[in-house]
Order: sequence, then C-alpha cells, then structure tokens
Amino acid sequence: MSAWKKHEIFEKNSIILVIGILVAISVGGLVEIAPLFYLKSTIEKTEGMRPYTPLELAGREIYIREGCYTCHSQMIRPMRDELERYGHFSLAAESMYDHPFQWGSKRTGPDLARVGGKYSDDWHVEHLIDPRSLVPASIMPGYPFLAETELFTRDIQGHVGANMVVGVPYTDAQHEFAVADAIGQASPDTDGAYDFEERWPNSAVRDFDGNPRKVTEMDALVAYLQVLGTMVDFSIYDNKANLR
Ligand code: HEC
Repeated sequence: MSAWKKHEIFEKNSIILVIGILVAISVGGLVEIAPLFYLKSTIEKTEGMRPYTPLELAGREIYIREGCYTCHSQMIRPMRDELERYGHFSLAAESMYDHPFQWGSKRTGPDLARVGGKYSDDWHVEHLIDPRSLVPASIMPGYPFLAETELFTRDIQGHVGANMVVGVPYTDAQHEFAVADAIGQASPDTDGAYDFEERWPNSAVRDFDGNPRKVTEMDALVAYLQVLGTMVDFSIYDNKANLR
C-alpha cells in the first residue's frame, strides 16, 4: 500500500481524522509551549533599569490621561530607518516596569522611546504649551494648562503600591515617602530634595517646568519625557553592527 493509499484511512473516516488532527496539534503545541515553563524569564536582564520615580510615574499617568499615546509610539523596531532616526532598537527590559506598556504602533508624531535628553526642559515646556512656536508645521495640540495645574499628589502613593503588587521592585521606603519624593524631585535645594536623592540615587533633581513656586503637572510630564530611553547605557552597544 502506498503512503497515498494509507492517507485514505483519514480521508474516509471522520473520527480517525479528528484524532489525527488532535495528535498533530498536541505535538505542535507542546513543542511551542512546554519550553516557556522552564524559562525563568522571557526578559533579558539589562543593567541600569530602575522603576520610575513617583514624579515620573505621575508624569506617565498624565501622558496616558492626555492620550499622547494616540499619536506617539514608544517602540523602536530593529529596522535600518528606525535605527538611523531614533537610535538603538527597544529592548524588552526597557518596558518591564511599564504597566501598561506604551509600545503602540501608530505614529502621527515621532517615536518617543529615546526622547529623554534629546531636548532641554525649556524646549519641552514651550513645545507642550504651544508646539507651533517651535515647530511651525506641527499638528500636535497644545497643553498649556499643564503648566498651571498643580500636581495632584494624593494618589501617587497608591500608584506606587499598585505597581508593587504587579511586581515592580520599589522599596518600602520609596513607597512610604512617595508623595514627599514627588515634590522633592522637582524642588532642588530643599530638604525634600536631599531626602529624595537618598532614596533615588540615580535620578535627576530639577525644577523641570522652570517655575519654582509650585510643582505642576508640567514638572511631572517633563520629568517622565526626560527619562525615556536614558536608563540603559547604549554607548556600549555598536548600533551600526545592528544595521547589517
Ligand atoms: C494629534 C497627534 C499628537 C498628539 C495627541 C500628541 N502629539 Fe506630540 N507630536 C505630534 C507631532 C506631529 C509631532 C512632530 C512635530 C512637533 O515636534 O511638534 C510631535 C512631537 C512631539 C515631541 C518631540 C519629539 C521629537 O523627537 O522631536 C514630543 C516630546 C511630544 N510630541 C510629546 C507629546 C506629549 C507628551 C503629548 C501628550 C501630552 C503629545 N505629544 C501629544 C503629534 C501629537
């Protein structure tokens, strides 16, 4: 009996065909799924990653609230045009403390995964108040109210706590003093700023919005934008090698 003839058994008997399909799917499924249970993590460990400070986290909430993600992605793909324009492609570890992540796929504006440090704080403040004052052809809406609105801090500790529940490694002190640290990070030369620096050694303390009188939503959003893509040191990677 040729192989073709043997196949007739499946074609003429629906029960045997169903059993055959189940066997084929099980083998395929096991080969794909079983190894995942033996992996400790699907995210490669990367040096430099730290959780967002309370102020950056508050800025991220504003970024989500204002729908910035509807026009901006935060995911650089490993393709030549993206590497040349935005820098090293995004690593899984870079969004491991993002709940939810902001990868996105729609880009009306540029990708923001590595926008941190690209411009000054002043540039961001002016751009967010009136984008067309800096980029005349911009279609981005202005957000002038951010500079006037005092940051709502009462829910920040809750946000830090919620992130801890889903596995972000904040220390108990970082959780306990979240509100004070949100204010301290944007208030240089105050006791709050020194306390912040003790709990957050690798973070910038600045008056992000240039208005020392109050901590605004602009402070939080600019602090967030300025940290994007800056935690991992990519100078040790050869970006050009990725282009080949
Ligand atoms: C309607 C779409 C749209 C929305 C919503 C939007 N943007 Fe933009 N954004 C753009 C466009 C288009 C540009 C490019 C022109 C420019 O620089 O203004 C841009 C540019 C930027 C840049 C400069 C990026 C670079 O590399 O030059 C930043 C930073 C930025 N946006 C942040 C934000 C933030 C933060 C929000 C939310 C508060 C936001 N955008 C909301 C469309 C948008």
